[in-house]
Amino acid sequence: MRAAHGPGHNRVVTDQTTAPPAGARVLPRRLSLPDFPWDSLRPYRQRAAEHPGGVVDLAVGTPVDPTPDVARRTLAAASDAPGYPTAVGTAELRDAVIDWMRRRRGVGGLGRDCVVPTIGSKESVALLPLQLGVRPGDLVLHPRAAYPTYDVGARLAGARPVPVDTDADPSTWDLPANGPVTLIWLNSPGNPDGHVLSVDQMRRIVAWARHAGAVVAADECYAELAWDEPWAARGVPSLLDPGVTGTGADGAPDLSGLLVLYSLSKQSNLAGYRAAFLAGDPELVEAVTQVRKHAGLLVPAPVQAAMAAALGDEEHVRHQRETYRRRREVLLEATQAAGLVNDPASAAGLYLWLSGPRRMSALDLVGAFAELGIVVAPGDFYGDAGAGRVRMSLTDTDERVAAAAARLHATDLFRP
Ligand SMILES: Cc1ncc(COP(=O)(O)O)c(C=O)c1O
Repeated sequence: MRAAHGPGHNRVVTDQTTAPPAGARVLPRRLSLPDFPWDSLRPYRQRAAEHPGGVVDLAVGTPVDPTPDVARRTLAAASDAPGYPTAVGTAELRDAVIDWMRRRRGVGGLGRDCVVPTIGSKESVALLPLQLGVRPGDLVLHPRAAYPTYDVGARLAGARPVPVDTDADPSTWDLPANGPVTLIWLNSPGNPDGHVLSVDQMRRIVAWARHAGAVVAADECYAELAWDEPWAARGVPSLLDPGVTGTGADGAPDLSGLLVLYSLSKQSNLAGYRAAFLAGDPELVEAVTQVRKHAGLLVPAPVQAAMAAALGDEEHVRHQRETYRRRREVLLEATQAAGLVNDPASAAGLYLWLSGPRRMSALDLVGAFAELGIVVAPGDFYGDAGAGRVRMSLTDTDERVAAAAARLHATDLFRP
């Protein structure tokens, strides 16, 4: 048993290191993983469920609006799929990804060898370090306030996860001396904090990474959900933007050492389909694809077809964005009225990143929300940077969001 250290996702649980007595079964040997954080919310969910007006669940961030017709129709039409799908994905899907990256992300110059579909993007966050050959002793950097799976993925590869302030210049990062940085995770727009990295910020990080010999992987799954300027009008920049990557003699982006993860879960309500992709440096994509082939990590053929169709349709994404914009405005106004403060740099994404009065810890805030029948996630699920904060997602129905807003307008639980 190894000692637990610190709250949230840095905590390490059981790790059987002592030899078992002769004849005793050896497996399962537990990996050194954090507790699954959502399990600890159960008492707060129960409390919230007692509210006479019913529960409003703004904790997990799972989409609740219908899957668009274009995806459902295409999935059904592709349901006769007796043979194995290929790991690299159909030409139709890869072309749809390339076209979407050009149209929506301003990234040209991708060939079919620069993209590969994945079974949702969480599996990539968890497995990319292993798939790229990250080893014990390596350092894997990730944002300070972060989706917990960056930490988990580094641990699965035996490496050391190191939270850094990815908003700051990399020259200010305080890194352990013992080990090479081999992988740097960026997440823009960020979960949970909604921060967006500019072209200049990412260019500096890429230059630093290339100098250090590290790969940069950017998780951009909230890129279509920008609320504040300049991002709403201009779009959230991609790691593969030519202003970040630099260009070669042919004017194409220099993709070396760079990968983007993208997911259709949020923009297209396809979380149940597990539909995502990787795009970037063909050498990295090829290394990942080799492992995916050997491990049978294949995106089902009907899902590949549905993904290609969804990527080709912008109307449903526009509609979903407006739905989230409305819910965000309602929740922003109501939380402010209750005395809570959203992170002023939270400009995009699917969450409010709220702090309350100084006296209230993250769990105090979760408890107060539960009194109102509202479930939110404590900030320390996302690392030490989340102390005194909660994450509120925009993913319950309009009717439930309106109910939450009414309760927030009527409460003084968050007053100093
Ligand atoms: C930052 C981030 N990355 C990846 C994922 C995983 O998404 P999916 O596996 O549905 O593609 C999520 C889900 O909430 C997320 O917030």
